[in-house]
Amino acid sequence: MLGILLYCRPGFENDCANEIQDKAAALEIFGFIKTVRNSGYVFYQCYNPEEVEGLASQIDYSQLIFARQMIVVKAFVDNLPLEDRISPILAVTRDMPMSGDLYVETPEGDETKPLLTFCRKFTVPLRQSLKKHNNLTNKENRKKRCLHLCFLDNQSAYIGYSLPNNRSELYMGIARLRFPSEAPSRSTLKLDEAIQVFLTPEDQQTRLHSGMRAVDLGACPGGWTYQLVRRGLFVSCVDNGAMAESLMETGQVTHFMEDGFKFEPERKNIDWLVCDMIEKPKRVAKLMAKWLIEGWCKEAIFNLKLPMKKRYQEASQDLQILMDMLDEAGLTYQLQAKHLYHDREEITVHVSLQGNVWGKQLGK
Ligand SMILES: C[S@@+](CC[C@H](N)C(=O)[O-])C[C@H]1O[C@@H](n2cnc3c(N)ncnc32)[C@H](O)[C@@H]1O
Repeated sequence: MLGILLYCRPGFENDCANEIQDKAAALEIFGFIKTVRNSGYVFYQCYNPEEVEGLASQIDYSQLIFARQMIVVKAFVDNLPLEDRISPILAVTRDMPMSGDLYVETPEGDETKPLLTFCRKFTVPLRQSLKKHNNLTNKENRKKRCLHLCFLDNQSAYIGYSLPNNRSELYMGIARLRFPSEAPSRSTLKLDEAIQVFLTPEDQQTRLHSGMRAVDLGACPGGWTYQLVRRGLFVSCVDNGAMAESLMETGQVTHFMEDGFKFEPERKNIDWLVCDMIEKPKRVAKLMAKWLIEGWCKEAIFNLKLPMKKRYQEASQDLQILMDMLDEAGLTYQLQAKHLYHDREEITVHVSLQGNVWGKQLGK
């Protein structure tokens, strides 16, 4: 194995590279980064090829912020002959354990966009050949490794695999969501994606359902509120701006024209706090910690805006402040932070308190 390939949003290669370097160094598995600006991927080449698999299984993909996918790379092939690209690929996959699925991909980017049609077309004959050579299960099996071919042009590709339960299940690691025309802003897709990434369908049924209560800080015009209302929640919206009339008419929304940093919910049994205020990320992290520590909410999804250059460093510091505050308060929680496909210069964070948490009952 050569190293680890990570997909990211074009322009975020440095953040993704700093993050994987940090994680690998903590595990004392050393290597170097190969990255091209705006390429949409980062390659971490290990000095010792025998350590690559160990690195990929020890890094928890769900805890990576800037990576959309994590692939163990077996080989890089180039100069693939146009008349037969499949044979050299089979020469690599021959020595690999059987995979349960195949993704022929390319990193996201304007330059690679034209390759997507090629990738789609090439998948069909490659899949057939892989099955014939016992490199791919006859039926799709997502409990096994997934074989990835990441084409950089139509003659060169990384060949590798992702590990079950330690990867994104999505093609190119991208959640392609339909924009609901009745939603008041495109931001709605950010919360929709966050819910789907952070909560399994079962979690959504038990933890985010009709009749629950939510607070949306910085809610206007209501894209995030729309996602909560659509799921049957009652939402207190806090913002000095104007909420979409269509949402007010549902009877599920109460609008408070107040400062989100000073707002205190009347009822202290809120199921969900969401927050998309454009503010300094440290300030938002501290506010989220306050709500969780006070026991005002059980779970929170919020954005940390990162308009600065060193986004990974800033995000790490902000999350550390939040975790230190929660730890100091003796809370037990799960935390995940992701640079989602619909996020731009921001990341989305989910914190879920464990146990019976309303009204300071946990650990206080
Ligand atoms: C990015 S927009 C939110 C978009 C919204 N999530 C949606 O989907 O439609 C940020 C909002 O935060 C609000 N905001 C910024 N600072 C605030 C504060 N201190 N208190 C309340 N709202 C604030 C702004 O008025 C603005 O409407």
